[in-house]
Amino acid sequence: MTNSRIAAIDVGNDSLKGIFGKLDSELNIPNVIARDIEDRPIIGIEELDKQDPLDGIHIRVHSPALQDNNAIYRVGNLATKSNNSTELDPGSSKSEEDQTLVMLFASLALDAAEQDSLFKKNNNVIEANYTLGTGLPLREVKEGKDVGYRSKLLGSVHQVEFLVTPRHQGIKVNIKFEEVKVYPEGFAAFINLVMDNNGNIINKDLIDKRILIQDIGGLSTDIAVIKNRKVDDDKAQGFNLGVSESLELIREEIRSKYGIELDSRRDVVEIITKKNDRNHIMVKGSRTSVHEIVDRILVELAKKQYRHLRNMWQKNSQTEICYFIGGGSSVLKEYIKTLNNNLDGYNIDFFEDENESIWMMANAYYKLIADFSRKNQQQYQKKEDEKKLAKTK
Ligand SMILES: Nc1ncnc2c1ncn2[C@@H]1O[C@H](COP(=O)(O)OP(=O)(O)OP(=O)(O)O)[C@@H](O)[C@H]1O
Ligand SMILES: [Mg+2]
Repeated sequence: MTNSRIAAIDVGNDSLKGIFGKLDSELNIPNVIARDIEDRPIIGIEELDKQDPLDGIHIRVHSPALQDNNAIYRVGNLATKSNNSTELDPGSSKSEEDQTLVMLFASLALDAAEQDSLFKKNNNVIEANYTLGTGLPLREVKEGKDVGYRSKLLGSVHQVEFLVTPRHQGIKVNIKFEEVKVYPEGFAAFINLVMDNNGNIINKDLIDKRILIQDIGGLSTDIAVIKNRKVDDDKAQGFNLGVSESLELIREEIRSKYGIELDSRRDVVEIITKKNDRNHIMVKGSRTSVHEIVDRILVELAKKQYRHLRNMWQKNSQTEICYFIGGGSSVLKEYIKTLNNNLDGYNIDFFEDENESIWMMANAYYKLIADFSRKNQQQYQKKEDEKKLAKTK
């Protein structure tokens, strides 16, 4: 058995979440890339290496899986600052966009470069071997796109070359996959609810229930229907409606009303979710409430999300519970709960910890791929033992 490292990667429209090895490292990278049209200025190596690699992912990617081979990209935080950056279009197919692969390869290469002692390294080239668990929206799996996506990944070596990147400048990483599993997103969330990191069932009550899982992300919302421990493909629905647009609206209004320029949507999230002094900003040194703006915009979105829930519950009347997951659910939690109390009173549940909500999918892929890898290992061991036994006879 080759020493391949486990990687569980959720390429979300808003950000990529990755979990690696024996849960030893994690990466969260905004899903933003920019084609490099002019050279990134060379930064003195001492200056550069003081920076965080996550703030300077600058790479060239060679891979037959890409439509645009050998292009140079800025990825994540560095791309955000670029004026030609692209985010995924909610109508597009994840499995068919170069952007998905560029993000995936960038995160794997970064992990490999940080953990280079685990792999063979000749000069500046790291030979990285991974067992990958990842996912695609249910809609794409239904269309059978997972098959092509998997074989694109498995079929070749993908090379990431770090250009002007802190600590990894000049490093090349050859990424090879020992195995790739592509799970449907809704199913994965269910697995995370009922299985622990060692592949044991943890939630016996839940496992045979009919449940809905409403995943409110940055740009999209997916509702999965679970019955008989399986996702019901035909019933699942996806909508191009996430929380990013509302966060952007809040930012706009704060700018036009108070002249305060917030750097990013993340700053808005911080203001509306912080424990102390929630929904307040400082304007010229005075504590100022933005409650009215935030409530008005988020109630609007919560109502739309609630309508989707109601619609799904009508079509699946024997549903016992609906779980809300994804970053959008953390932001909308109180609004949706209030609506539900005043309206239909469905049995719904949220996750206390916003990280649990956001990392739900990546955690699920981890559990699934770790379980697969463990079983594979056991089988391999069994065969080896049998061989040994046969020799001694
Ligand atoms: N604690 C938090 N940290 C980061 N983002 C948060 C947090 N809480 C809420 N958010 C918001 O949640 C959204 C991201 O949600 P999530 O990570 O679930 O989306 P995604 O999976 O990347 O996107 P999609 O599901 O559309 O593919 C962002 O708009 C972000 O601003
Ligand atoms: Mg998501």
